[in-house]
Amino acid sequence: MSQTFIPISKPWITEKEVEFVTDAVRSTWVSSLGKYIDKFEEDFAKFCDTKYGVALMNGTIALQLALEACGIGDGDEVIVPDLSFIATANAVLNIGAVPVFVDVEPITYCIDPSKIEEAITSKTKAIIPVHLYGHPSEMISVNAIAKKYNLKVVEDAAEAHGATINGKKVGSFGDCAIFSFYGNKNLTTGEGGMVVTNNKEIYDRCRFLRDHAMSKEKRYWHPEKGYNYRMTNLQAALGCAQMSRISEIMANRISLFEKYKKALGGCESIVLNQTLPWATNSYWLIIARFKDISESQRDKLMVSLKEKGIDSRPFFYPMSDMPYFKQKPNTPVTHKVYKEGINLPTSFDLTEEQVNFICDSIKAIVKDLK
Ligand SMILES: Cc1ncc(COP(=O)(O)O)c(C=O)c1O
Repeated sequence: MSQTFIPISKPWITEKEVEFVTDAVRSTWVSSLGKYIDKFEEDFAKFCDTKYGVALMNGTIALQLALEACGIGDGDEVIVPDLSFIATANAVLNIGAVPVFVDVEPITYCIDPSKIEEAITSKTKAIIPVHLYGHPSEMISVNAIAKKYNLKVVEDAAEAHGATINGKKVGSFGDCAIFSFYGNKNLTTGEGGMVVTNNKEIYDRCRFLRDHAMSKEKRYWHPEKGYNYRMTNLQAALGCAQMSRISEIMANRISLFEKYKKALGGCESIVLNQTLPWATNSYWLIIARFKDISESQRDKLMVSLKEKGIDSRPFFYPMSDMPYFKQKPNTPVTHKVYKEGINLPTSFDLTEEQVNFICDSIKAIVKDLK
């Protein structure tokens, strides 16, 4: 079978997206005012079972703003899982706070609630559970701990659009939550992010800070320092088109996962995304974890896949391993799991034949790995 290059993921752009973005351009509302901004915020907040949404430049900024709106700042400690995209920790650092790394649990790779309490100190002010690769964190336990110690909870749902816990959408469990709409996310605006919340104070604070903290009553009067973190109407138009197709987009990811499961399910040494009974998964990226493989074997596997025209990604490194973190936490599960995992292509238009080709290639390569 002749193969062209299979990328890790491609945004799903249809005529609807072209139509909405063209309309936004033609309207001349190309900056951060316009009908699509309001509609996108409304539609996406509703989709998350929340009251309010604040559209922003990207997910990292959304996380910074969400933390600030929760009153987190200089010197405060914020608990994060050690296994995540670096934006989770960088957002904490960028507002002058200190990330404290906690291990993940070995099925979902999300923060292990049983390890949180030992990381809490008198300086701890918040927890950021990350719904990694589309599987929700155990929010019921996280929220119970947060309540006991009077901590804020900011869900990092950047990767988990539409995932649920007991039938309720992620994003609606914490004091607030953030999403990313980067091009490889299930729902994209090119670059983009949003804070969603049921808390009017957090919502008002995010809107205020997003727009240079300008007084509502007095234009160009700024009672405190703010930012320009605004999303454009063009990006929001893309978001609105994607929202109008969100059921189709979500169903596509589930059916793609089923194709991988059919093709790789029988291999005992390969673990795909596992979803706990109380959750539904958004399958942002397909996971293949090769139990007890070494990091160099994992890297060789990825090189061999690339030679066959198949793109893949390694799991995120433990964030605490980055050289600018001097304190090294004890996170053995994170440090074992990260070496064993890769992410496989998740584009919307992958055929069963292509998935079978990817999976057959993996099986053949793994058999010969030294
Ligand atoms: C877990 C997590 N948090 C935050 C972000 C940041 O989002 P953005 O890339 O839109 O800044 C990402 C992006 O991929 C992410 O995966």
